[in-house]
Amino acid sequence: MNVFRQFYFKKYLRTLFPNSKHQIPNSNSTPRSTSIGIWCLEFGIFSIMSDNQKKYTTIHYHSYLELDKILDAQRLRSAELDENPAHEEMLFIIVHQVYELWFKQLMHELESVIAMFAEERVDERNLGTAIGRLNRVSEILQLLIQQIRIMETMTPLDFLDFRNYLFPASGFQSFQFRMIEVMLGLRTEKRLTYHGQHYASVFPEEQQEKLQKFEDGDTLFEVIESWLERTPFLDFGEFNFLEHYKKAVERMVDKEKAAILNSSYLSDKEKAMRVKMMGSTDTYFESVLDPQVHARMQAEGALRMSHKATVAALLINLYRDEPILHNPFNLLVSLVEIDELMTTWRYRHAQMVLRMLGRKIGTGGSSGHSYLHSTAVKHHIFTDLHNISTLLIPRSELPELPTELKRELGFYFSMK
Ligand code: HEM
Repeated sequence: MNVFRQFYFKKYLRTLFPNSKHQIPNSNSTPRSTSIGIWCLEFGIFSIMSDNQKKYTTIHYHSYLELDKILDAQRLRSAELDENPAHEEMLFIIVHQVYELWFKQLMHELESVIAMFAEERVDERNLGTAIGRLNRVSEILQLLIQQIRIMETMTPLDFLDFRNYLFPASGFQSFQFRMIEVMLGLRTEKRLTYHGQHYASVFPEEQQEKLQKFEDGDTLFEVIESWLERTPFLDFGEFNFLEHYKKAVERMVDKEKAAILNSSYLSDKEKAMRVKMMGSTDTYFESVLDPQVHARMQAEGALRMSHKATVAALLINLYRDEPILHNPFNLLVSLVEIDELMTTWRYRHAQMVLRMLGRKIGTGGSSGHSYLHSTAVKHHIFTDLHNISTLLIPRSELPELPTELKRELGFYFSMK
């Protein structure tokens, strides 16, 4: 539509709908797909609607998603600084942007789950929602791991076409990634440092404060820990879970030792070695059976979760078949899964970096692959929940719960 026709057309519409506050777009500023006819219809309907109805007015796909902003956000440095733009730089930018969008979604989910568990009393009805959201976090992380393959369609030589233009930008400067780590519960003192630098020193003050605020406040680790500490299932009246569990562990360990010592296949040296190795597993059993051993291991940094919370997690795992424990069990599984997926991402990212850079240092100044590989080994959050598997005993050895207690753990309609 030429400028004159557009002008008179707008004027005509204004006479038809004098009270409308609806902006009339210029045909050259609207996406091509928006036909002026459709817009006329929207405009007319909008003008005769009440304010309440306007809340539910239609919106265009393009403007709703703010695609102008998003699609205008890929500026190739190689095109700006060099007469030969690097073809692969577009992929590099888009993959990173997509990551950042998903990071935003991850933060959104984690924040809501933390808020649910930060309540003094967690509403049991929220448990299903929390598990659903944590499962969504897992699915997104799976996708983020897969996306590394897309990045790897770029060859190391292609990458060198524009890598020079990236200094000193680096993944170190991803604020949202750090927020996710902090929200999950990764603590500063547990982090690997490079050149003794604080991980947050690359951020402006305002972002540093945000990270610190989260670290000092409720993280997923902490809210789950205190929720576990409050589980009512630990208070069994007459039935002392830990006492029964201890006897069951002793029975199981005795059986295992006997199986090793009576083996006709192992040499005496191998038998002695295996029995000795069982001793180190015993330390974990002791840590749950004796709060003092637990406190010592906590002080040494071998354990993080409180004794009470660990016992609750153990109980939930052992008696997960009881109906009332299904949801708590699924929740713990989802946390273990998230921790595993974060570690898998770290490994995959480190592998990709090895492929792209070999042993070159990173643009952020770290040792590159070697640093990233070490973070995969060190930056775990829910290690205590993984350790629960060390403490499990076979179902056949499980202490029988008193009928009264079983009734409490069951759904009423499933109990006689
Ligand atoms: C060609 C592709 C890539 C290369 C060569 C690469 C390289 C590196 C290197 C060397 C580091 C260590 C810090 C440094 O010294 O700069 C690093 C850190 C990081 N990168 Fe990448 N990266 C790539 C793609 C990605 C992608 C797609 C993401 C997604 C957001 C990403 C996110 C991160 C994050 C979050 C860190 C900090 C990790 C930590 O400190 O634990 N990187 N990257």
